[in-house]
Amino acid sequence: MAPTQIRIDAPADGVRRITLNRPEARNALTTTMLGEIAAALAAFAEEEEVRAVVLTGGEKVFAAGADLREMAEKTVVDVLDDPRAGHWRAIARFPKPLIAAVNGYALGGGCELAMHADIIIAGRGARFGQPEVNLGIIPGAGGTQRLTQLVGKSLAMKLVLSGEFLSGEEALRAGLAAELTEDAETIPRAVELAARIAEKPPLAVRLAKEAVRQASEALLAQGLAFERKAFTILFATEDRREGVAAFFEKRKPVFRGR
Ligand code: CAA
Repeated sequence: MAPTQIRIDAPADGVRRITLNRPEARNALTTTMLGEIAAALAAFAEEEEVRAVVLTGGEKVFAAGADLREMAEKTVVDVLDDPRAGHWRAIARFPKPLIAAVNGYALGGGCELAMHADIIIAGRGARFGQPEVNLGIIPGAGGTQRLTQLVGKSLAMKLVLSGEFLSGEEALRAGLAAELTEDAETIPRAVELAARIAEKPPLAVRLAKEAVRQASEALLAQGLAFERKAFTILFATEDRREGVAAFFEKRKPVFRGR
């Protein structure tokens, strides 16, 4: 079935581009969209002519996180059985180079999606953040682990505990992004880099990616399991309901620790 919430094209030889396509909701990640990304990557993994993939939300926004309309009514039991976890694992398993071109907001699951890429190219106007704490929850798609590995404990703690954002320039300085570009150049530069990688020997590229991932993989698995459990538990709290309700009512949440 053709995807409905992402667009796929081939901007250069050996390169495929996935563009998230729900601009009216700031590319918020519905379960359908995550499934479409996972399915597209699974197909690209099998296609010999695909050598590298660019993932982008377009020129204005990368993704504003999990779709909060969808998340609002979820219970702990729903989260335990959530197909999203499988989609995230499938994205993490993608064996070929994945480059994220990030413009505008990459928040919550959006920041986590960017961190699933092997390389992040950030525009000057990019805003990275893990604002889940404002909703009474925590990052649930690897943010506590991958962000910490990328930027170190102190800055990761600041972002995860306060919900503050990093600019593109700060992301570059912190090591979250590999390059900083003008916003209009982010996607062309990601495509250019993907095209260059696409010319390299595919077996060496695949094993190089796998080898670099091994630098952090063992620790990651343990941390992801803890994060998942903590994320699920928080769905039972009143603070989580209050956080999501306050977002849609455009008011400040009142958290009671219940
Ligand atoms: N889910 C659903 N809808 C969203 C959304 C989201 N995450 N983010 C934005 N939208 C919708 C808004 O409801 C709004 O819809 P309407 O036009 O129908 O009112 C539309 O997108 C535009 O949003 P804003 O008016 O808020 O746009 P803005 O430019 O003023 O602000 C923003 C943009 C800073 C991204 C702000 O929308 C925002 O803070 N969004 C929520 C960010 C967030 O909390 N993300 C974390 C989600 S939890 C998570 O991600 C957990 C996980 O994966 C494991």
